[in-house]
Amino acid sequence: MMSASNPLTHSVLGPKCADSYFSRVKAQVAAADRRRHESTNTNLKDKHSRMAAYLEIADDSKGHELSLFCVPKHYEEDLDSVIIPNGLIKDRTERLARDIVRDMGGHHIVALCVLKGGYKFFADLMDYIKTLNQNSDKSVPLTVDFIRLKSYSNDQSTNCVKVIGGDELSALAGKNVLIVEDIVETGKTMETLLKLLNECHPKMVKVVSLLVKRTPRSSGYRPDYIGFEVPDKFLVGYALDYNEYFRDLSHICILSDKAKEKYKV
Ligand code: IMP
Ligand code: MG
Repeated sequence: MMSASNPLTHSVLGPKCADSYFSRVKAQVAAADRRRHESTNTNLKDKHSRMAAYLEIADDSKGHELSLFCVPKHYEEDLDSVIIPNGLIKDRTERLARDIVRDMGGHHIVALCVLKGGYKFFADLMDYIKTLNQNSDKSVPLTVDFIRLKSYSNDQSTNCVKVIGGDELSALAGKNVLIVEDIVETGKTMETLLKLLNECHPKMVKVVSLLVKRTPRSSGYRPDYIGFEVPDKFLVGYALDYNEYFRDLSHICILSDKAKEKYKV
């Protein structure tokens, strides 16, 4: 498996160990990417050589104490812990941008943002790709499109994935499309979108998801690029919502059971 091994065995970071913690996390991501590169270079036919590298958050990770981070007062009672701090999201996103440009660069990329949950990740990823374009001899033209899908009610994925707005997919015919998603759980949303998109005959389609949930409900679908693999818990923040709440939270946090009741529709 191409995962970086569990970086979050310490549930609470003291200020002194924060620097070494982030260096360790970065080293683990780099090692996973190196392993992926090495196996690709040796042309292994093994399917693992084509699997995306990701940073693994272990099932027994309790995350970090809320009081160590800035969290809006109105959500303090609703969250169990911070599972991925905003800075770590950005560091990982920066590396995903580099991998995507390495693989898709040279072509015009149409980045398709899956709304609403993907908007923060999309904005940060586009900024990192823009920075690469500005600071390199080679650059890749980038345009953006948006699609709005709905598949969730309370904390349950439904079987019915609906397109409820956005740009016409037919405009993507013949294009190199990068779908940008917040989280893959069962995989149904992405499988439905890929089916719809393929009917429009794009030239190439790649999918990047900030998060992939480890869950027995998964269809087995895996995106081409993955930020983090996370435990089977309901996560909010960084634009991930629970019935539209918690998008205004910078860190990715574990939602408490009490809050699921409080914000239920
Ligand atoms: P899937 O179709 O089961 O893969 O679900 C994907 C969609 O469900 C994502 O795009 C999210 O919008 C939503 N979702 C799944 N898990 C979570 C979560 O833990 N928090 C917030 N939204 C989620
Ligand atoms: Mg989504």
